Formats: sequence, structure tokens, C-alpha cells
Amino acid sequence: MTNQRNLALVASWLVALLAATPAFAASQIASATIHAERPGAEIRPEIFGQFSEHLGSGIYGGIWVGKDSPIPNTDGYRTDVLAALKDLHVPVVRWPGGCFADEYHWRDGVGAERPVTINTNWGGVPESNAFGTHEFLNFAALIGAKAYISGNVGTGTPREMEEWLQYMTSDQDTTLTRLRRANGRDKPWQIAYFAIGNETWGCGGNMRPEYYADLFRRYAAFLKAPPGAKPLIVASGGYDGHPEWTKTLISTVRDNLGAIDFHYYTLPSPKRDWHHKGAATGFPESEWISTLVSALKLDVYLKQNIAIMDKYDPKKKVALFVDEWGNWYDPTPGGNPGFLPQQNTLRDAVTAAASLDIFMAHADRVRMANISQMVNVLQAMILTDGPRMLLTPTYHVFHMYIPFQGATYLPTELKTSRYRFGGFSVPTVSVWAARAKDGSLEYALTNLDPDQAAKVSTRIVGAAPTRVTGIALTGPAMDSHNSFDDSNSVHPEPFTGAELHGDRLEVTLPPKSVVVLTLN
Ligand code: AHR
Repeated sequence: MTNQRNLALVASWLVALLAATPAFAASQIASATIHAERPGAEIRPEIFGQFSEHLGSGIYGGIWVGKDSPIPNTDGYRTDVLAALKDLHVPVVRWPGGCFADEYHWRDGVGAERPVTINTNWGGVPESNAFGTHEFLNFAALIGAKAYISGNVGTGTPREMEEWLQYMTSDQDTTLTRLRRANGRDKPWQIAYFAIGNETWGCGGNMRPEYYADLFRRYAAFLKAPPGAKPLIVASGGYDGHPEWTKTLISTVRDNLGAIDFHYYTLPSPKRDWHHKGAATGFPESEWISTLVSALKLDVYLKQNIAIMDKYDPKKKVALFVDEWGNWYDPTPGGNPGFLPQQNTLRDAVTAAASLDIFMAHADRVRMANISQMVNVLQAMILTDGPRMLLTPTYHVFHMYIPFQGATYLPTELKTSRYRFGGFSVPTVSVWAARAKDGSLEYALTNLDPDQAAKVSTRIVGAAPTRVTGIALTGPAMDSHNSFDDSNSVHPEPFTGAELHGDRLEVTLPPKSVVVLTLN
């Protein structure tokens, strides 16, 4: 009885103490342990990859303006966009689609005479083919990224695909390589990745997994390249809760299967209503949290696919690539809806960070992820308007995460409260730790709660850092964003909310923020 009374007294004293400490009372609490003594898989740089499709102003106007444009350019590529992408250390770019890839015939995009075709998938607008194989591969080289080509299986033939690869990679003297030389490229290019089709369950041909698996085997048999120059061959896989594509491919394809692709888009609409997805700006808190709930589902789907792959491929020879991911909103009013234009806010930054944390958590199987899309389309890094350009909050997150490229995963246990709103709940905090290539310990922390600060107390085992520096991205509103009139409103700032006390790191994360700490 006395013990119970004492306990009740202590409890009421603790409650009073917490209430009297406003900053503490206002905060959510999380605790974490970083195991620096148990390094895991390498975080492939390609997890921070990009996707660039012939869609709206994703290429034309966004990357390519042509040599005669009044917009400052380097051989036709926007100089401002090139500089921003170089600075982003883009590891890989996937091109030319998307849905566009399965109607793309590569010969239309080489040489001086290029036919004007129709982009039937995206707005039904003319496609000049001014940006083709040479323009893409030279662009990838200019920004220092690996090239990932999506081949046409929907309306193409094995011969067309085989010849495209030969055109790009052969060092022999043939009619095809003479054509390449006549078009201005002597040496073959390095093609790191080559996919046989895109979304073959939908825009890529409305196929069944069994039919596509057979097509994959057939097309892959003809994709040949000189020794050491063969790209990793990627199969078009499933999406959302459809792991049957992964299962069919991994259980029936024996040869040439380097990776299976998977697509997942985040929608604010809890019912995944593609006609009313939700607005990119001016949204209520219910859509802040429903977007996060949707984004975090990616983890569930990845685990489904990985479990299947682990069963048939326990040595993890075949990779899982998330070739398309990101937030998809209703298009910005006033523009061509077929061009998929959308603003990019702090919500996108927070979901990008949480999604990258998920990819890194599966680093031993997920060896590439390409956000949709690089410029002007969906969850873009960069938006352009004529000669103007801005960097989005998502760009800044990718930039802040550069030290994670090629770093070594450090297991981290996390106990976190949950942020709740309107019947939904998500973990308040997402964290990620890794040993960077320069030896420093990198620690990313995201506060998913838009209203409350979050205190995170972290124990570091197996390392004894003495110095912490940091950078943070946040803003006053859930939809804080950069506009062409105020292009630097949301940008990373030095972060001073972290303190080291022996093996303990105490961090106070501002509401709706992404923080990256470097511990030396
Ligand atoms: O990224 C936009 C489109 O989304 C891609 O073209 C397609 O693959 C997916 O459905």
C-alpha cells in the first residue's frame, strides 16, 4: 500500500516536472542506439538515382534547350541545370522512359534528319527527337552519372534493341559503328544498366507476368556487348502490392537477370484515387499525414518482394531496383495536365528523406532507386520556367544525403513515439546512420511531426566521436516551398541543436525537419 502511494507520488511529481518544462513537454521523444561496431552492407550510390523521361518539360526546356537558345547553354544543355546536377553528385540517370520508352525507336533520335513523332503518352504533343542517344549519353557524362537505358519491348523488336546496344557499345568497324562515328562519337560509351521494357503490366504492353518473363528471356538472349562492356540487364517488374511479377521472374528466369524493377508512387489520397490525388500545396494536415502513411507503405512492399527474392535467390545475386518512386499530386492548375507539373514542398523533403531511409535499410538487396523525375515532372529536383530555375526541397535532401553515397550501413535501433492525426499515425522520427567513405559517422534524422519538436537521445556504440556538426532543412509551413519569385525560401541551414555528452548524442529536431549530422 505504502509502495503504491510512493509510486503514485513519484508519478505525479514527474508529470508536474514535465509540464513545468515547456520545451520538454512540447516534444516527442525518441531514443536510438547506433552500432558502429557492426558495419553492414554498402549503401550503393545508385539508391540516390534519377529518372528523366520525355514528358512535358522534363527534357525539352528543362535540360535541353538547343544550341541556338537565348537561355545560357553548354552545347544545348542548360548551363544552370548542368551545374546544379553536377553539384548533386547524381550517380545514375534512367532514360528515355517510363511509358515513353516502349514507343521509342532509337534511330529516330540519331543523325541530322530526325522525324517528328507524337508523344502519345504525355500530352499527345510533337516529339522533335532533338534529344536522342548522343544527347543523353553526353549529358550523363557531363554530370558524372552512369547511364541507364530503358529499351523498347512494347513496340520494338529484339533486333532493334540488339542494334541499339551495339551502336552504343561496339568497338568494331561495322555499319552501325560507322553510323555512330559519322554522328560524332568515335569511342563506344559505357552503358551501366539496360532494361527490357517498362511497366509491362500497363503502358508497356498490358502483359501477364508469365508472358513477359518469356519475352525477357528472348530479348535478353540477344543483348550482347564486348567483354567488360555488357550492361546489367534489368527486368520490368511489379508495382504496389503486386509482387507476383517478382515471383514469376525470379522463379522462372535463369540467365541474364541482373535486377528486377519495382515501381511505387505515393499519393495523399488514402484510397489511392488517381483522379483526386490531392494538391501539391495548400493541403490540410490530414493530407500531410496521409502522404506520409502512403510513403511509408513502400517498406511493406519492399519487404514482400525481398522475401520472395530471398527464397529463390538466397545469395542475393539479383538486385531489386526501385526504378520509379516519389510523390504524385494533382497537376498544377493552368498547365498541361499531361505534363505532370507539380510544386515541391517541405512535405516532399520529409517523405524523400523517410523513403531514402527505407531504401538504405534494404541496401543489401535494393541497389538502385530512381526518383520520378529529375526536372519539372512529379517530385522533381529542379523546376524551370523559361530562363529561370529553382532547386526544390527534395533537391536539398538529396544534396544533404550525398555523404551516404557509397557509405557503410550501421545498424541503428530506434524507439520512437508516434505522430498521430485524424485517425492516422506514423513514427515521429526516422533515423539512419552510416560510416561515410571518409571515415566520418553520418547520422540522418527526420521529424515527421509538422507541429512539435522531437528530442532524440542516441547512444553510440563502437565509436567515440568528439565533434558534431550538422545541417537542417525546415520551414514555417507544411507546404513551404521555393517559387520563381523567391527561389531560396527553403534551403539547408547550419544546425546547432545537437550536443555530444560522452557516448550520448542529444538532438532536438525542429518540427517537420530533415537533419544530417556528421560526427568525427
Ligand atoms: O513517371 C511517370 C510515369 O509513371 C512513367 O512514365 C511510368 O512508367 C509510370 O506509370
